Amino acid sequence: MTDILNHIDQGVMTLTFNRVDKKNSITSAMYAALADAMEQAEQDAAVRVVVIQGHETIFSAGNDIADFLNNPPAGQDSPVFRFLRNIAAFPKPVIAAVAGPAVGIGTTLLFHCDLVYAGDNAAFSMPFVNLGLCPEAASSLLVPQMMGYHRAAEALLMGEPFMAEAAQEVGLVNRVVPPLELNNYAQAQARKLAAKPITSLTETKRLMKGGQAAHIKAQMAEEGASFGRMLREPAAKEAFGAFMEKRKPDFSKL
Ligand code: COA
Repeated sequence: MTDILNHIDQGVMTLTFNRVDKKNSITSAMYAALADAMEQAEQDAAVRVVVIQGHETIFSAGNDIADFLNNPPAGQDSPVFRFLRNIAAFPKPVIAAVAGPAVGIGTTLLFHCDLVYAGDNAAFSMPFVNLGLCPEAASSLLVPQMMGYHRAAEALLMGEPFMAEAAQEVGLVNRVVPPLELNNYAQAQARKLAAKPITSLTETKRLMKGGQAAHIKAQMAEEGASFGRMLREPAAKEAFGAFMEKRKPDFSKL
C-alpha cells in the first residue's frame, strides 16, 4: 500500500495520504490500511503519538467517489467504519496536519484528533448534503458541540468551505502555519508529546473523552446506517454521476 505511507520514528507513527494525483481521495483499501495502522499503533509500545498528514497542496478530497460508487461500504465492518471506530476510540494522542482542501471525511476525522495544525491554505468542507448524503464520523454530534448550532448548520447544510483562520476561531484548529512548514511543525509537536509519560497522556485523553465515548459510538452507528442507505438513493446517484461526468448535479426532479 503506497497510497498510505506508514512510518515510525522516535515514538511517532506518521500516516501520510500519498495519492496526490487523485487529491488524496480515500479508497476502501486506504481505509483498511488506516484502520490496520491505528490497531498497530494502539498495540505497539514503540508508538506513543500518531500524526496524520497529507501534501502541502491537499490534505484529502474525502471518499474516492468512483470507489464509493462501485464498492459502497457494506455494513459496520466495512473499512471506512472500522477506521472511524478506531480513530474515535484511539487511546494515544493523534495530531493532524492539514494543508489545502480537507473535504468530507478529510474534515470530519479531525474532530477525533487531539491537536490539529493547518496550513494557511487549508479549506475545510463537509458537503454531504450537496452529495445527497448525511454527516458521518459523529460529525452531526461533534460539529454543533464545537461550533454552536448555527455555525454547524452553515457548515453542514450549506457544505461550503471555510478557511484555516475560521477553523481556528471555532476551535477546530490549534495553530495556522505556512503550508511548507506544516508537516515539520506537526512532527516537532508530536516529538514533544512522545517524550512525555504515555500513562499520563492516555489517562488525560481518556478523562477528557470518557464521558462521551458511548454517545459518539451510537451517533456514528446511526449516521452510518443512514449514510449507507442514502448512498444507494437517487440524490447521491445524481451527485456522484455529475461529479464523474464533470457537470453540475440537478436535484430538481428528486
Ligand atoms: N474521488 C475520486 N476522485 C477524485 C476526488 C474524489 N473525491 N476528488 C478529486 N478526484 C480526482 C478528480 O476526478 C481528478 O481526476 P482526473 O485527473 O483523473 O480527472 C483529480 O482528482 C484532480 O481533481 P480536480 O477536481 O481536477 O482538482 P481541483 O484541484 O480542481 O479540486 C477538490 C480539488 C478537492 C476541491 C475537488 O477535486 C473536489 O471537490 N473533489 C470532490 C470532493 C468530494 O466531493 N468528496 C466526497 C466527499 S464524501
